[in-house]
Amino acid sequence: MAEAKRPYVLGTGDDEMARLGLQHQLWGDAARAAWRAARIGPGQQWLDVGAGPGYAAFDLAQFVTGSGRVVAVDESAEFIEFAASQAAARGLAHLTAARGDALALEDSPAIRSVMEAGPGFDGAYIRWVLCFLREPERVIASLGKLVRPGGRVVIHDYFNYTSMTMAPRRPAFDRAVAATAASWRERGGDPDVMAHVPAMLAAHGFSIEHLGTHSRLARGSRSGPPESMMHWMASWWRTYTPKLVAMGKLSQADCEQLMADIARYEQDPDLFVVCPPVFEIIARRA
Ligand SMILES: C[S@@+](CC[C@H](N)C(=O)[O-])C[C@H]1O[C@@H](n2cnc3c(N)ncnc32)[C@H](O)[C@@H]1O
Repeated sequence: MAEAKRPYVLGTGDDEMARLGLQHQLWGDAARAAWRAARIGPGQQWLDVGAGPGYAAFDLAQFVTGSGRVVAVDESAEFIEFAASQAAARGLAHLTAARGDALALEDSPAIRSVMEAGPGFDGAYIRWVLCFLREPERVIASLGKLVRPGGRVVIHDYFNYTSMTMAPRRPAFDRAVAATAASWRERGGDPDVMAHVPAMLAAHGFSIEHLGTHSRLARGSRSGPPESMMHWMASWWRTYTPKLVAMGKLSQADCEQLMADIARYEQDPDLFVVCPPVFEIIARRA
C-alpha cells in the first residue's frame, strides 16, 4: 500500500456494503451497456479496479463466462472477503477477488499471473474509484501496460459532483454537498476527476471511443415508499451527513435540517433531487 495512505473516506462497514449493492442495482444498466459497447464477450479476461464488494465483478464474470476470467482488486479486506465468498456461492470460480492497491496494480499476484500467461487483459472497468485517489494517473498508466493492444477500458466517475442539488434548492443540502466534496479533496481525492481522465488516457496509449454522461433524478412518492433512486440518495445522506458533522465540516443544525428536508422530499413526488452526473468513457488501447 502507498505510504501516508488514509482509509477510504466512505468506510467499509455493513452500511457502505449495502449502499454499494443498491447503487449497483441502480447504475448497473449503464455499466452493462458500456461493457457491451466495449465488446465484452465469452472467454475474455477483465480487470475490475477498486471493485468494492464485487457487485460489478459478478456481472462481468457472467459476461465472460467460465471460459474467461475476472480479477477484482480492492484495498479493503472486508470487501474482498465478501466478494470471494459470494463468487464461491454463485459458482463463479473464474472470478478472483484479490486485495491490492489500485496505485500498484502490477504488484498484484493475481494480475501478474494473467500477464505472464498471455498478452494482457481484454478489458478493465473502474467505477467510482479514481475520484478517491491521490494519483489517479498511476492507475491509467498501469492500465496502459496491463490492457492488451485493442483491449478497452470502461470508466464511470464524477465531474461536476457539486451540481447535485435538491429541487427546489435547500441551503443545508447545498452546504452538505460542498462539505462532501471538501472531505474527498482533503484525502487527496477529486470529485471533478473525470475532467482530467481523457488526457490521462491519451498520454498512456488509449484513444477515446466514447465520452458521455448519465444524468438522473430521484423523486419521492406520496402513496408508498419513495422510488429506489430516492432511497439511494436518502440512504447516502443519512449515512454520510453525521460523518460530515463528526469531521467538523457541517454544523449539527444543517445536519438536522437536511434530515428533515430528506424526509419531506421522500414523501412528495412534486419535489426531486438532481443526482450527481456520472461520466462515462470507453477507451481503446492502441
Ligand atoms: C465507491 S466504492 C466503488 C466500488 C465499486 N467500484 C463499485 O462501483 O461498486 C470505491 C472503492 O474504491 C476502493 N479503493 C479506494 N482506494 C483504493 C486503492 N488505493 N486501491 C484499491 N481500492 C481502493 C474502496 O475500498 C472502495 O471499495
